[in-house]
Amino acid sequence: MSSGGLRLVFVGPPGAGKGTQAKLICEKWGIPQISTGDMLRAAKKAGKLPADLVEKMAQGGLVPDEVVIALIDERTNAEDAKRGFLLDGFPRTVPQADALDTLLAGRGQKLDHVIALEVPGDLLFERAVLRRTDKLTGQIYHLKYKPPPAGADLEHRPDDQEDVVKTRISTYEAMTSELLPHYEKKGLLRRLNGVGTVEEVTARVLGALKTS
Ligand code: AP5
Repeated sequence: MSSGGLRLVFVGPPGAGKGTQAKLICEKWGIPQISTGDMLRAAKKAGKLPADLVEKMAQGGLVPDEVVIALIDERTNAEDAKRGFLLDGFPRTVPQADALDTLLAGRGQKLDHVIALEVPGDLLFERAVLRRTDKLTGQIYHLKYKPPPAGADLEHRPDDQEDVVKTRISTYEAMTSELLPHYEKKGLLRRLNGVGTVEEVTARVLGALKTS
């Protein structure tokens, strides 16, 4: 572990279970979950995300590196992140990974582990398309694997429509062909099977963090 806490990255395609696992691991380790997707959706909800970026997300593309790097720079420097953090969905490109190294190095910090959750395409598709979020609580449900309570006011993410999920999976595949080897070369990457129950996957993640 580098000075002052545990710094983790979760990488994985849409629907791999990054957010689900990140929440559980962060509760267990007492570190903040920092999701660029959540931050961008919050900015959109507050009317603070420029229209071209709203459109980019709705189409399943990536927002520009400099936008997410600026968000991460500020958020990882906050008081609650001094004891470590888990980055969920960042970095997604090699320039983002390089920028992260630079900003951490400037604070005398470094990454401890990068966990890649691997799930086959047909299951990813089902997990993303049937995901629903409770508008009031933000709780994430799945119509098949984690049904919402009766009467919940649910939201279907615009980028969870079938055609957009396909684009997001392709975007991920194009981007990870460089990002995963980048972290493999640094000896930081652990590839884990993301198929199974939520509890089974959590046990794999905790096992990898113990043995890395
Ligand atoms: P983001 O919000 O990061 O989306 P994503 O990476 O596509 O990931 P998802 O949220 O779809 O899936 P997840 O892996 O978290 O799965 P979850 O745990 O919810 O990014 C959205 C957009 O923002 C991007 O497309 C891009 O435009 C932009 N963006 C974000 N970061 C960026 C960056 N760094 N650079 C540039 N652009 C960026 O699980 C999915 C469902 O499956 C849930 O319903 C859950 O209940 C269920 N589930 C989970 N695990 C299991 C299990 N083991 N068994 C059964 N069901 C399960």
